[in-house]
Amino acid sequence: MTTFQLNGKTVSVDLRPGTTLLDYLRNQGFFSVKYGSDKGETGADSILVDGKIMNASLILIHTVNGKKIETVESFATGRDIHPLQDAFIEEGAIQCGYCTPGMILAIESLAREKKSPSNNDIKDVLAGVYCRCTGYVKPVKAAMSYLTARNTKVHKDE
Ligand code: FES
Repeated sequence: MTTFQLNGKTVSVDLRPGTTLLDYLRNQGFFSVKYGSDKGETGADSILVDGKIMNASLILIHTVNGKKIETVESFATGRDIHPLQDAFIEEGAIQCGYCTPGMILAIESLAREKKSPSNNDIKDVLAGVYCRCTGYVKPVKAAMSYLTARNTKVHKDE
């Protein structure tokens, strides 16, 4: 039996060995977590594990015992979306949206990890999530806008 927190709720599962977190989450209807490859190269399968960005396709379910898992589904409350999602909309940082949940989780992990991230920190964290439509200029702007609104000081790169 594996027990963990999923978007704030305690979940216990007993699944066959080898089941990935990606398979489990999609089977449970968490469709923000997407398949990109079996090796996590695309970042479409991004989730937060104890607040850190990770690839659900690379995590076997039995290894998350006692951990806190977050997907983007936990970011909106009813019709109220998260300020970071709002920033993506305001900046026009979404086209097809396939990469967007991964980008949002990547930026949120950075916001939680660093009190004063640099512009390059934002670019670095987004580099793990492939975007084939929008590119990175607008998502970086959305991240800057969100971090600034959170009173996080974003310092310029040297
Ligand atoms: S918006 Fe389409 S892949 Fe990023």
